[in-house]
Amino acid sequence: MRPDNMKKSRPSVLLADDEGTVRRAIATMLTETGYEVKTASSGDEALGLLKSRHFDILVTDLRMEGMDGLDLLVEAKSAKPNLPVILVTAYGTVAQAVEAMRRGADDFVTKPISPKELKERIAKALSRRDMLREISELRKSKNTKRRRSDYIIGSSPAMRKVLDQISLVARNDVPVTIYGESGTGKELAARTIHRLSSRNEKPFVPVNCGALPEELLESELFGHVKGAFTGASSNRAGLFFAAHEGVLFLDEISEMSPRLQVGLLRVLQTGEVRPVGGDVTSKIDVRIIAATNRPLQNMVALSTFRQDLYYRINVLPMILPPLRERLEDLPELVDHFRILYNSELDKNIEGISPGALKRLKEHSWPGNVRELQNIIKQAMVVANGPVIHVRDLFQFEQGEIDATSKVDLSQPYRQQRDELIRTFEKAYATKLLTAAKGKITEAAKMGGLDRKSLWALLKRNNIDPKPFKRKMQGHSH
Ligand SMILES: Nc1ncnc2c1ncn2[C@@H]1O[C@H](COP(=O)(O)OP(=O)(O)OP(=O)(O)O)[C@@H](O)[C@H]1O
Ligand SMILES: [Mg+2]
Repeated sequence: MRPDNMKKSRPSVLLADDEGTVRRAIATMLTETGYEVKTASSGDEALGLLKSRHFDILVTDLRMEGMDGLDLLVEAKSAKPNLPVILVTAYGTVAQAVEAMRRGADDFVTKPISPKELKERIAKALSRRDMLREISELRKSKNTKRRRSDYIIGSSPAMRKVLDQISLVARNDVPVTIYGESGTGKELAARTIHRLSSRNEKPFVPVNCGALPEELLESELFGHVKGAFTGASSNRAGLFFAAHEGVLFLDEISEMSPRLQVGLLRVLQTGEVRPVGGDVTSKIDVRIIAATNRPLQNMVALSTFRQDLYYRINVLPMILPPLRERLEDLPELVDHFRILYNSELDKNIEGISPGALKRLKEHSWPGNVRELQNIIKQAMVVANGPVIHVRDLFQFEQGEIDATSKVDLSQPYRQQRDELIRTFEKAYATKLLTAAKGKITEAAKMGGLDRKSLWALLKRNNIDPKPFKRKMQGHSH
């Protein structure tokens, strides 16, 4: 491309015509108009010139010996897709000119050439090209512009490694599998890979494989033809098509049924998708990024995940570390969410007290960054000064325990049990103190505990009963 920062030079025109007199006449006229003109006496010569240097526009006669204008058009567009091409046709070959437009010509003029008309057409084609270029640059900058919520925060060694992997993986167009506990940022990582990759102007399509029953997920992914099943009242393109040339994010891929695993494997092997109930396949070009909080390798060993599929998608595996293993990232993360929610909640929180930060460092973070994000947001809602204090933390903990959904065979039994108990204890004590308005004797009675056990419970979980009293006083105003 022409170095655009140089003094704006005259637009360059490549003119192809095998009739010398016509060629020279047009060339003279265009040069006088202020264009830089280069001429070619055949399609082949024009193509050679096009490939050897930059031109702003190609003007070619349609009828030429050897490679004619139509062939030149097709060749030129395949070599330089954004090059505007104007065809010059003899009177009476307008039908051919229309055909040429269909094949990508930008415009045509008929002989005998009116200098005024040719000049106008060239100017129009050039300004159209500039506009298209601007739009594509705008789109690019829009897609690659980062909002704060796109940031991946963390400078711990573990997160640095993740960030390095993300940039490596983004540059290589192969499947990726992202492992990590719930809330560790798997989707954020996947979106970042997409944004940094060459597919960033094409869609990122997320689909949660664990959220839909098998048949529904199947037709979501592959699409279906009219009448494929009850309720299929029309053809529908699936998410593979929606993600064409972009990224399909298969979240919770471990939950995919064996039958759909076969279907997915076939798509990956053939690059073709067949809608449910249809018999025609279509080519698609999609990059798969998968995510899971279960170790697929163990599932392969237990034969609940196909080994061949595992090898296909696990080309570049990445592991997102749990928050409890990189607590040094806490201050940075807290600050990040503080700034994010200051603007979202229209607040002016300036920071967090050392005590509150310490309290956060003592938490076990079973919900990882997502949990932290919620805790900070809630704290900012209840804080009544410019600083987040201990009393603002963990005020809304639901602590609802769905024991079966928490069972994770990849983690040791005792660790999981202790985490569940901690979560439960915290939730219980918080609710109890809230109900008893911070009065220990009353709370102990309500909970069927003696005062000593209640104190022990509170101490274990770093819960201070005072704020519960304060809250009540606040209400009585
Ligand atoms: N390192 C990080 N820096 C900043 N924000 C993060 C980070 N990790 C996660 N988040 C934020 O935390 C939230 C949860 O992240 P995300 O949805 O990517 O997690 P996930 O691993 O997909 O979780 P789940 O398994 O529950 O779906 C998001 O709002 C995300 O933006
Ligand atoms: Mg997720």
